[in-house]
This record gives sequence, structure tokens and C-alpha cells, in this order.
Amino acid sequence: MDFRTLHEIAKQAKANLNKAHWDYLIGGADTESSVKRNRYGLDSWVFRPRVLNDVSEVNASTELLGAPLRIPVLLPPIGSVQVFEEGGGESVASAAREFGVLQFLSSVCLPDFDVVAERVPGPRIFQLYLVKDQGWMDDIIARAVECGYIGFCLTVDTQTYSRRERDILKGFVPPSGSRIEDPDHSSQARMNWDTVAHIKGSFDIPLIIKGVAVAEDAKRCVESGVDVVYVSNHGGRQLDHTRACIDALPEVVEAVDGRVPVIVDGGFMRGADVVKGLCLGADAVGMGRLECLAMAAGGAPALLRALEIVEHEIKTSMALMGINDLKDLNPSLMERTQPLTPSHVLAALPLLEEGY
Ligand SMILES: Cc1cc2nc3c(=O)[nH]c(=O)nc-3n(C[C@H](O)[C@H](O)[C@H](O)COP(=O)(O)O)c2cc1C
Repeated sequence: MDFRTLHEIAKQAKANLNKAHWDYLIGGADTESSVKRNRYGLDSWVFRPRVLNDVSEVNASTELLGAPLRIPVLLPPIGSVQVFEEGGGESVASAAREFGVLQFLSSVCLPDFDVVAERVPGPRIFQLYLVKDQGWMDDIIARAVECGYIGFCLTVDTQTYSRRERDILKGFVPPSGSRIEDPDHSSQARMNWDTVAHIKGSFDIPLIIKGVAVAEDAKRCVESGVDVVYVSNHGGRQLDHTRACIDALPEVVEAVDGRVPVIVDGGFMRGADVVKGLCLGADAVGMGRLECLAMAAGGAPALLRALEIVEHEIKTSMALMGINDLKDLNPSLMERTQPLTPSHVLAALPLLEEGY
């Protein structure tokens, strides 16, 4: 694919999608303030670059749960991703494998997790929404382990499905929506710390808790044996009026205190955004809507191209900050400021507004 910039990818995505699918992609809950705050938070940091360090070689590779990451970027779970490109989770899997990053495969996308595992072998994390009882969950986790998934991710910020008014007004229900809602609407809502203890006590697969927003819960995760803490507000699609995830990150990093990896998502759209997350202590950063935009723009090849551009951006930012290795990114390389422009979901792609 010959996309030269992420702008072109977003523009192509918009041209390819109908209004219902576009709004499903960009939308959030209620007033969408959590969506906007994710960007506001990221745009509230500027770099304090250092000079005269040799940056002729920049290393941006790392690992998570023993899997190599060519860049510290993760592809978050996306339900119904098949509405953006028919290959769905399998296309994302192909791009992730070819580029060298980890995909989180959502339990509410197609094809099913066992099919993706068979068609695209390789390290991958499985994310589950609980829609039935614990026995059902146990069976799925056992099958995910059997299929070779290297981590099991429980999303805990979806106690109930939020009100996404763009979708409500159009009567749009994502095709996998019925798989999120159980008949009595309560399996997700009933989850609690006993669920975590049960999984840790029953299965030998790293457990990732996605949707942590405060230090208290991060600490409890680590005490409960959770293997990775995932800071997320679901891209602003669940609780409205949350903090930006980049603003929640430092207290979580402090509470976790290096005992397990911390990952973050929410508003990260550019390589420089990823660098900001790493400066504040994240081990890797998820880019959800970018994944969706690339899928809509051209499936696996476009996603691969998006990752190449993000890699270029990360390495360029690091070089211009005088940093040649991820381990040297730290909070002293940043400072708080005022964002320059109003925050919105695509604020990181300002040329779109100019018609490019
Ligand atoms: C279209 C769409 C579908 C999503 N589906 C899921 C899902 O099935 N499971 C989940 O844990 N998170 C889901 N998320 C949230 C993402 O995993 C991720 O947390 C979020 O997109 C990160 O914010 P960003 O889009 O600003 O990068 C979804 C997000 C989008 C945009």
C-alpha cells in the first residue's frame, strides 16, 4: 500500500465506510467527553529534547509476555472489526504477525478465536467478554490455552454496555452486539475480584486486566497475581467523564512499581503519542482507532503500512529527543502545557480538516 501518511489512511477509511460504521468507529459514550479528554491529555504534554547524544542507531523494539515487539505498540481488541474489512480479526492477525506486534483478539469479532489461531499461527492475546456463567468462561479459557494464546485479557470496564448515542440514533447495533449482551444482562456486571482469583487459581496463562483507571485497582491487581495491568477507558466508549488515560497512567505506574508490565491505550494515534506514554512509564501502548481506520482503509496491507509509519514516527521522535533506546525514555523528557487546538477524536490528524 502506498499510503505516505496516517492522514491518507484516515481519509481513505472515511471514504470506504458508510455513516453507521464510521460513527461506530469514532464514537464514544454520552457526551463523548472521555474521547476528547484522551486527546486533550496527550496534547497537554510537550517534549524537553536532549541534544548531542549519538542517535545514529535508534532501538524501538521490546517484548511483552515473552513475545517480541518490533515497536512498543499493541493492537487492542476490536469487537465487530469485520465491519471495517471483511477479514476481521484474521486480517488484523496477519498484519500483526507480518509486522511483529501483538494483537489482542476480541471475543466479539469474527472469525472466532480458534479459527484465527489455526489460520494465522503465532503469539496472540485473547480478550473475553463474559456473557454466560463461570463454567462457560472456564471452557473458553481452556480452549484459548489449547489454541496457543499467550495471554488472557479480561475487560472489566464494560460492566454494562454504555449509551453510544451516534449508534442509538441510527438504530445501529454492531453485528457482534448480541454476543456482548447476555440474556439477563448481568454476567459482566457480576464480575468481581473473586473472578480474578478463580482465573489465577485455575489456569496457567498470564492474566491481563483491561480497563484499570486508578492506583487502588492497579495495586489490587498486582496483589491478586494479575500479570499485566492495562490502563484504558475503552477509548471513551464506556464511562463518560473519565480522566485521559495518559493522566491515569502515572499513578498506576507508581502503584505497580515495576512488579508487572503496565500498558495503556486511549487516544494514541501517532508515534509521538506512543513515546509520551512510554516516557510516563508504560511498557507498551495500544492504538485502537488507528487499527480500525487502517482496517477500513485497506485491511491487512493498510494496517501493516500504518504500523510502518508509526514505527518511522516513533524512531524520528526518539532521535530528535536525543534518545537511542526505549529504556532511556523517562518523565524528565516531558513537561505539561496547554493544547493548541480543541480536542477531538481525530485531532492528531489536523490536515484532514484542511481537505488533504
Ligand atoms: C470499534 C471499536 C470496538 C472495540 N471493541 C472492543 C472489544 O471488543 N473489547 C475491548 O476490550 N475493547 C474494545 N474496544 C476498545 C479498544 O480495545 C481500546 O481500548 C480503545 O480503542 C483505545 O482507544 P483508542 O481507540 O483511542 O486508541 C473497541 C474500540 C473500538 C474503537
